[in-house]
Amino acid sequence: MEVNRKELIASLGGEAAVKVMDHETRADALEDYLSRRLDEIAIVKNKGRYPTVAELESKVDKRGYRRGAGKLFVHERSNQNPDADDSGKKVPRLAPMPDKPTLIDFFQLRFPPAAHLLQSARLAKKNGMSEEIILACLLHDAGQYLCRADHGYWGAQIVEPYVSERVTFAIKYHQALRFYADPSVGYEYPESYYMTFGVDYVPLPHVQAAYEYARNHKWYMDARMVTTNDLYAFDPNVEVSISEFTDIIGRHFKQPKEGLGYDNTPVTHMWRTMIKPDAPL
Ligand SMILES: [Fe+2]
Ligand SMILES: [Fe+2]
Repeated sequence: MEVNRKELIASLGGEAAVKVMDHETRADALEDYLSRRLDEIAIVKNKGRYPTVAELESKVDKRGYRRGAGKLFVHERSNQNPDADDSGKKVPRLAPMPDKPTLIDFFQLRFPPAAHLLQSARLAKKNGMSEEIILACLLHDAGQYLCRADHGYWGAQIVEPYVSERVTFAIKYHQALRFYADPSVGYEYPESYYMTFGVDYVPLPHVQAAYEYARNHKWYMDARMVTTNDLYAFDPNVEVSISEFTDIIGRHFKQPKEGLGYDNTPVTHMWRTMIKPDAPL
């Protein structure tokens, strides 16, 4: 299989992220990259053949993990290739984090590859969104590192003490809004969801209720803008660095002086769990 060096580095979070990895981490990362490429080839082959909800459910006990598990706790995998043989996959070794970790440290050491978040935020910037919406786009799927299931809620919760109520709202409700079209802004139901959830999937009652609530809320468009800038078909050759958003983070994310994971908020332990996801208890 052909390895595109530029694409590989971008997929790992850019030159800066690769530089801080040790030899073993790099080897693991290369292995992940190669298995992702195999997934991509399978996705192209499967295109247009969507599973039903029942077919996806029938695979639950064929895996050694649950699909809702956070990204930091399971090897790299793709929702777009439910038939992938993941039996030989491993999780990468994680680099240690500084004593007082900042949000940027998480982007560099725990979230790579964070291309989806970085490119969504860049798109929001290009589309002239407000700084708060750009920040919401940058953080919208950060909850997935802890838990993929209900990720909008997890994502909103981990940042709630550090960002405005409006940013929290946009992150929380993007999860529900992703399922519902809004022709007024050109948002359609994502084709990838036919593969992820099953072609006949109906959103759960709490998601339907969250949609109804958000649809009538004064900040509806904030959450909606997260979905319109939620970029899946991102270009692997475009490298976006977190440094592009340093100023916006500085103005709109209240970085605790003790470091994320060591301050005293109701979500401190969640950041600490992401610092050490290998802790056995
Ligand atoms: Fe999301
Ligand atoms: Fe997303």
